[in-house]
Amino acid sequence: MTPPLLRATDVSVAFGRGADRVRAVRGVSLAVEPGESVGIVGESGSGKSTLARVLVGLQRPDEGTVELRGRSVFEGEGAYPGALRRQVQMVFQDPYTSLNPRMSALDAVAESVAFHDRCTRAQARDRALALLGDMGIPPGDAVKKPRLLSGGQRQRVSVARALAAGPSVLVADEPTSAIDQSAQAQLLNLFNRLLRDGLAIVLISHNLAVIRYLSRRVHVMRDGEVVEEGETERIFGAPSHDYTRTLIASIPGREAAGTEVSPQPTTRDGNADRRIDLQAL
Ligand SMILES: Nc1ncnc2c1ncn2[C@@H]1O[C@H](COP(=O)(O)OP(=O)(O)O)[C@@H](O)[C@H]1O
Ligand SMILES: [Mg+2]
Repeated sequence: MTPPLLRATDVSVAFGRGADRVRAVRGVSLAVEPGESVGIVGESGSGKSTLARVLVGLQRPDEGTVELRGRSVFEGEGAYPGALRRQVQMVFQDPYTSLNPRMSALDAVAESVAFHDRCTRAQARDRALALLGDMGIPPGDAVKKPRLLSGGQRQRVSVARALAAGPSVLVADEPTSAIDQSAQAQLLNLFNRLLRDGLAIVLISHNLAVIRYLSRRVHVMRDGEVVEEGETERIFGAPSHDYTRTLIASIPGREAAGTEVSPQPTTRDGNADRRIDLQAL
C-alpha cells in the first residue's frame, strides 16, 4: 500500500522541566493526502502551533515520527533532508512577522522562487509576478512593501511565498484569524482552488466554521491531545466530546451544534463559487 503523503504518528513534544514542564503535544497522529484538507481545531494553548511546527520540521518531536511519502523527515540533525525541504511549507497566522518589512511583496516571493529553483533573477521575478497575480495581487501592488498592503493581501503574499517552493503540503496556522471577514472569504476560496489543484492543506484554526468550510476531516485538540477526530460533518452534527460541543457552541452567532454554518459540499467541484457564510466565520 502506498504510504500517505504526510503522516505524523504518536507525536509528543514537551517544553521545560520539573514543575515548569508543559506537555504541548501528546501522542498525536494524523495523515493528509493530495487534494485533501485536514483540520486541527482547539482553543488557545491546546498545542496546535507546536504540532504545526513539528509537521514542517521547525520542531523536533520528543517522541513519534513524521513521514513524507513514507520517508522519515527527521533524519540526522536537521529535518526534511535535501529535496524534501520544499515539499512542506508553512503559512503563519501573522504575515507581518513572517514577511520582511523592508522587502516588497515581489522581492519576497522572488527570493523564495530563487531559493528553491535554479533560475535567473528575471525568471524569478516573472514567476513571482505570476504567482502573486494568481493570488489576486496585481503588479501595481506586488511592488509595495508589506505595510502598504491590506492584511488580506499580506496573507496572500505569504501564501504566494510558500507556493513558490512548489510544495505538496501547506500547513496553515490560523491563516484567517488576523484578517477581516471578506479577506477571510477570499483566502478560503483560494485554498479551495489549491485543493482542487491537488495541494494538501493542514488547516489550523480555533474557528470550527473555517475548518468546516475546507476540511472534510478534523482533529479536535485539547491540552496537547486529540480528544475527537473524524468527518467534519459528523462531528458538527453529533459531537461526542463535551469539549467539542463547547467549541461549536462558541462559534459567534451560533447557539449550539447546528446545520446552518456553510456545510462542506460532497463534491469539491461544486464548491468553486459557493458563497461563504461570513457570519459563521
Ligand atoms: N517554545 C516554547 N517554550 C515553552 N512552552 C511553549 C513553547 N511553545 C509552546 N509552549 C506551550 O505549549 C502549549 C501549546 O502551545 P501552542 O502549541 O502554541 O498552542 P496553540 O497553538 O494551540 O495555542 C502552551 O502551553 C504553550 O505555552
Ligand atoms: Mg497557535
